Parts: sequence; structure tokens; C-alpha cells
Amino acid sequence: MGFVEVAKANDIPAGQKKLFTVQGKEVLVVNYEGKHYAIGGRCTHMNGELSKGKLEGKLVTCPRHGSVFDVTTGECVTGPRIVFLKFRAKRAPTYEVKVEGGSIKVDV
Ligand code: FES
Repeated sequence: MGFVEVAKANDIPAGQKKLFTVQGKEVLVVNYEGKHYAIGGRCTHMNGELSKGKLEGKLVTCPRHGSVFDVTTGECVTGPRIVFLKFRAKRAPTYEVKVEGGSIKVDV
């Protein structure tokens, strides 16, 4: 479909994240150490809102059951925990991002 502008580059400073809807898909854009990455905005376990989760470095934690996703790869590095049970979650989708002319563009 091609790249779509979602924000100005300085709208998402290093260490921050922001949720966008791009062509009907929820996309979470993260600035990790000055580079922008985009992953699906919903947790692959039970649809938790990753935009409401804690971001530490390149890791975002789902606020529902604690799955942790690497925003640079989409990998689920820690699965969900419910009470004392541990589960697994699938990799989150990732999208290509480029910064061009001061704008962040995402290809979904
Ligand atoms: S919905 Fe994200 S860990 Fe369960």
C-alpha cells in the first residue's frame, strides 16, 4: 500500500510511544534511541492495548497480563502470566518505518 505519514518526527521523542490508526490497523510507533519502530497496537495474547503499557528501552509490557514485546522485532520475549500460570504469546506484527522530510511514515 505504501508509506503513510503518521506524525512529525519530533512528535515522538526518544523513549516515547504513540498509537495511530493507519488504514484501519492500530500501529504503535516507538522511538527507541532515536530510531522509530512500529508494531501492532494490540497484544497478541488477548488484545491488550500496548499503547497503555510501560515502555522500557525497546521493551513494551502489555498492561493486561504482562507480556513483553521487543518493539524492534515484534518478538514476545516474556509471555503472559495469569495468577501463577505462564503462557506464551505470538510475535507482534511489525511495520516498516522511515523518517523523511521531518515526517514519520509507516508502511502497513
Ligand atoms: S492481553 Fe496482553 S498479556 Fe494478555
